[in-house]
Amino acid sequence: MGTEQQGDARAWYSFEAMATVDVSLMGLDDLGGVASLYQHTFNAAPWNEGWGFEAASQRLEGILAAPNGFGVLARRGDVPVAFALGYLEAWVSGRHFLLKEMCTAPERQREGIGRFLLEFLLSTLKDRGVLQVFCETRAGVPAEAFFRRAGFRALNVVALGKRL
Ligand SMILES: CC(C)(COP(=O)(O)OP(=O)(O)OC[C@H]1O[C@@H](n2cnc3c(N)ncnc32)[C@H](O)[C@@H]1OP(=O)(O)O)[C@@H](O)C(=O)NCCC(=O)NCCS
Repeated sequence: MGTEQQGDARAWYSFEAMATVDVSLMGLDDLGGVASLYQHTFNAAPWNEGWGFEAASQRLEGILAAPNGFGVLARRGDVPVAFALGYLEAWVSGRHFLLKEMCTAPERQREGIGRFLLEFLLSTLKDRGVLQVFCETRAGVPAEAFFRRAGFRALNVVALGKRL
């Protein structure tokens, strides 16, 4: 599929994806289209979460509109096909990035768009002084394979939650 892999997991390019989508920073004006994409993707397998448009919009706006919110978007024409969104955080030296949400539209997955967008995100963050990126996902879903393929590794932490 027109892919060049160069050993270093940070440099994994899909030339097909580069030719078919435009990537840019995400702005608040993009939230409507992105919320529809989020709803569409996370209401499909394996997540089947049941998002309504308003709840999806509120979630994504809450992240992007925060003082340290930061997102990137891939479009085909005017239509969002993938995005990644999270928070920049100050650290001892430099900054960290907490990747909260990322998705590619179900009908556009496995075309290299996710890796192209992630590469754009990581290089943009590096230019802004980010030293490390963190994300969480469910073990065994496609996202785990995707992030591992991009060079992410499991950390020695435990995720805890409590129902109220
Ligand atoms: C995870 C996700 C963003 C990947 O996006 P994508 O555009 O399909 O990813 P790419 O086509 O760039 O895949 C890059 C590589 O990741 C790995 N990968 C991606 N999807 C995979 C899958 N379903 N199974 C195994 N490996 C997979 C492969 O190594 C793939 O390279 P290849 O196609 O040459 O084998 C997409 O599957 C998605 O939106 N999933 C639903 C939402 C989600 O789970 N988001 C993350 C949790 S917060």
